[in-house]
Amino acid sequence: MSEPDLFSLVQAEPGSAAPAKRAAWLRAELNRHNHAYYVLDQPTIPDAEYDALFRELQVLEQDHPELASADSPTRRVGAPPLPQFETVTHAVPMLSINNGFSDEDIIAFDRRVRDGLKTTDEVEYAAELKFDGLAINLRYEDGLLVRAATRGDGATGEDVTTNIRTVRSIPLRLLTDNPPRVIDVRGEVLMFKADFARLNARQREAGQREFVNPRNAAAGSLRQLDSRITSQRSLRFFAYGIGFLEGAEMPPTHAALLDWYAQLGVPVCSERAVLTGAQGLLAFYRDIGQRRPGLPYDIDGVVYKVNRLEEQQKLGFVSRAPRFALAHKFPAEEATTVVQDIVVQVGRTGAITPVARLAPVFVGGVTVTNATLHNEDEVRRKDIRIGDTVIVRRAGDVIPEVVAHVPERRPADAREFQMPVNCPVCGSPIVRLEDEAVARCSGGWIKCGAQRKGGLLHFVSRRAMDVEGLGDQLVEQLVDKHVITTAADLYKLGLSALVELERMAQKSAQNVLDALEKSKSTTLARFIYALGIRHVGESTAKELARHFGRLDEVIQASEERLLEVADIGPVVARSVRSFFADPLNIELVEQLRAAGVHWPEGESHAAVPKPLQGKVFVLTGTLPTLTRDEAAALIEAAGGKVSGSVSKKTSYVVAGEEAGSKLAKAQELGVTVLDEDGLNQLLGEE
Ligand code: IVH
Repeated sequence: MSEPDLFSLVQAEPGSAAPAKRAAWLRAELNRHNHAYYVLDQPTIPDAEYDALFRELQVLEQDHPELASADSPTRRVGAPPLPQFETVTHAVPMLSINNGFSDEDIIAFDRRVRDGLKTTDEVEYAAELKFDGLAINLRYEDGLLVRAATRGDGATGEDVTTNIRTVRSIPLRLLTDNPPRVIDVRGEVLMFKADFARLNARQREAGQREFVNPRNAAAGSLRQLDSRITSQRSLRFFAYGIGFLEGAEMPPTHAALLDWYAQLGVPVCSERAVLTGAQGLLAFYRDIGQRRPGLPYDIDGVVYKVNRLEEQQKLGFVSRAPRFALAHKFPAEEATTVVQDIVVQVGRTGAITPVARLAPVFVGGVTVTNATLHNEDEVRRKDIRIGDTVIVRRAGDVIPEVVAHVPERRPADAREFQMPVNCPVCGSPIVRLEDEAVARCSGGWIKCGAQRKGGLLHFVSRRAMDVEGLGDQLVEQLVDKHVITTAADLYKLGLSALVELERMAQKSAQNVLDALEKSKSTTLARFIYALGIRHVGESTAKELARHFGRLDEVIQASEERLLEVADIGPVVARSVRSFFADPLNIELVEQLRAAGVHWPEGESHAAVPKPLQGKVFVLTGTLPTLTRDEAAALIEAAGGKVSGSVSKKTSYVVAGEEAGSKLAKAQELGVTVLDEDGLNQLLGEE
């Protein structure tokens, strides 16, 4: 698709007598914006402007039916339901791929390849991601998308052309003046995580069943007989292979094939590399494995393909899979298991969390026996019962979670969860305030050992007082044996009390004492955070410290004065006030100060507004010179806040290279997007 020249632009102004030209111009414009948005991830115009152009074209085509064209963006909106999908026979079968799991599997694969090619040299591989979606074949004839088919059994699939036409990143016409006569582009249809979350939020609001994961959502959306439903679902596509080709030269390598696709306007993923030897492959696997949680879509591994197509042909196939390719799978993030019981845990604020006790299951690389159910409403919404077979998910380092139950496998005697009336730890009544999702133990830390333990663990945690070596088991013993009650008691601990505990040798006891001594020298922000005031997280603690400078100022601040602090609203202000209104808390603070806990007390900064005061930033992608932490530190030093997700409250999104869904979200919400230079300008730097 070429840029419209100035002449046709003038000719094609709205209301001009050349509807054909205007229509052509609108199509080219809309296609260009689609490509920029969905393929290059660099939105060019606001959604509203896109919509206006789109509507103009729709009206034009209605008024002039003779202008209808198969590659018009207006043809992406879906069509009336089909009675069923037609069957399509693939010109070249769609094969499957062998799996490898361990380093040894990869080394063996590389050896087989070298044996097959009769070479001792390192082989060149193209490495890419294994997308967790559905394989699809897109047939283009003379550049025009004519058919899309699912993989099916590999030989025949289902004709999903009408549905695929609604996927905005898939070009209806290839971006070239001399397209191949016929080309079968192969790749994966998938749903991005953010789109999946939005879809499920919509399903929930509409009282409809939620999808278990992006893959199921993509499959469910693609296999809709009513393509108008598909058009409401944000599906994406990445190309990774080729089937039939006629009327064009086959590129020499897999990497060149993907580059060619990119030129043709077919989306390819930028996470790919050309590497040599097994060690190169393993390094790629580890790198992607680390970045996997941050990718905007789910993957279940990486795929290695011999790069030279000539060599691919030489290697050929074993049964239904090629010898030239291997999928190196990550440990599965989802698995099914049985809920043996549902118990509750008591957190440091007394929050009661239902937890599913599971038959041990290997998921996300570890054996999981417990998974959070978050709260009572969540248990009801997902309808999880004791005895159910459930899908458990553990992604990255995120705590394992029960995603859904499997309805077909519910036993007749499955039991519903009952929220207990009393705290299982201290016996105090459990209460649930009307406007809260969470039920709480009403005992408070004085009565409830669980809350004491939670509070103490929070106090010593890395981002609070940072007492190294004081972990769960030690705190548990200290509380259960009534050695300590409050955080101040920690600083009264002596060697003799510690060595009496289980698994506490002289040496480790001394280490704990040293760590406690070291922790006494802290900052006001850490100290405020360590107190565990409800709704006061790390960044609010920093704000309070910066604003007031001195602890006594914070203690004495009225709700009105607290509300003057950036980002503090009525709920937080009330919580801070009521914390310091409690004499027990004041006593705790005094005891801690008396024990020698100290920090540099500063001046109040309330009067000196900083340039980014009150502004909320979201960082995404890789910036040219600053690391993410450096950028965050600069923003915070200038009074701004850094948040992890884009919302209406976001002031700026700072986007670097390979920015993904956050950038798209920013665009969607009309949030200003900056690059590193833009950020520096805001910071008042050259
Ligand atoms: S290549 C001849 N590349 O994995 C090799 N497949 O078990 C054909 N998949 O059905 C497949 N990402 O749905 C290939 N980068 C990738 C892939 C990929 C995901 C899926 C595809 C296929 C299955 C193979």
